[in-house]
Amino acid sequence: MHIPVMLNEVIHLLNITPNGIYIDATFGEGGHAKKILSKLNSKGKLIIIDRDPHSIKIAKNIKDPRLTIIHGNFSSITKYAKKYEIFGNIDGILFDFGVSSSQIDNKNRGFSFLKDGPLDMRMNNKFGISASEWINNAKFSDIYFILKNFGEERYAKKIASAIIRNKKKKIITKTSELSDIICRTCGIYYQRNKHPARRSFQAIRIHINSELQEIKNTLKQILPLLKSRGRAIFISFHSLEDRMIKNFIKKNNKIEIYPYDLPILEKKIEKFFKKKLSFFKKFKPSQKEISNNLRSKSAILRCIEKI
Ligand SMILES: C[S@@+](CC[C@H](N)C(=O)[O-])C[C@H]1O[C@@H](n2cnc3c(N)ncnc32)[C@H](O)[C@@H]1O
Repeated sequence: MHIPVMLNEVIHLLNITPNGIYIDATFGEGGHAKKILSKLNSKGKLIIIDRDPHSIKIAKNIKDPRLTIIHGNFSSITKYAKKYEIFGNIDGILFDFGVSSSQIDNKNRGFSFLKDGPLDMRMNNKFGISASEWINNAKFSDIYFILKNFGEERYAKKIASAIIRNKKKKIITKTSELSDIICRTCGIYYQRNKHPARRSFQAIRIHINSELQEIKNTLKQILPLLKSRGRAIFISFHSLEDRMIKNFIKKNNKIEIYPYDLPILEKKIEKFFKKKLSFFKKFKPSQKEISNNLRSKSAILRCIEKI
């Protein structure tokens, strides 16, 4: 079962108004969503989004008139908010990025380098190309680029060359085949507690699910969705995600720049008043949480409030 990361912090920071409107944009197995629901009164609303059909199946087991379930990508959040007439009126949005335990633990989903299964890695396994299809058709330069940039893998060149060599002999269809190629290529360089395939699997998963593009497209939409004093919470699990959130905060937290040549036209005034956040905060899981749930170890939570 997926243990929700930093649950108490999320609930505290969302500062839930019992009759408010909330979105959990990454429902997963519903750990955060169920707690949010428990804080709402009969007038409150929770909209949940997930691209994984398995998560949607879990959500549909919650019979609650305050809950709206959306099977889709969070990058379409504005479209959904308009459809349900909550655009600009949302009290809080939660993003808990990455994969859920059921995705990692189910060997048939192909996310795990520790369990043998089809090399799939699609969060929505009814759509798009699998990791196996991608890797068997990709050129050296594409594989190298993905491993280097999305996995920050030091041995990206060696691993990409080994993948190209091996797939000429036999196409790669299973997680164990890819993991073995990586272990044979650079296993000796890794310490015993760091699996040599971890970074490569992360990189391929990020690519297959366009994870960074999804976040980039979504961040642009966040502030207009929220009401004044509405909050958004982002939980990231690696530096690539967290860097995007940090830049988003920086961009929207610029202090006012006053023009020299007053007066200025009203339509230009936006340009000079850039600060759109009333506060932002960063948290990490406690040692106690890390010892109960190792998956939380790399989590970074950032919370913003719109002015
Ligand atoms: C870490 S899990 C969320 C766990 C959840 N907070 C809980 O307590 O169970 C991340 C979830 O986000 C979903 N997800 C990731 N990227 C998504 C996207 N772009 N659009 C919609 N769902 C996405 C994944 O399918 C996965 O179920």
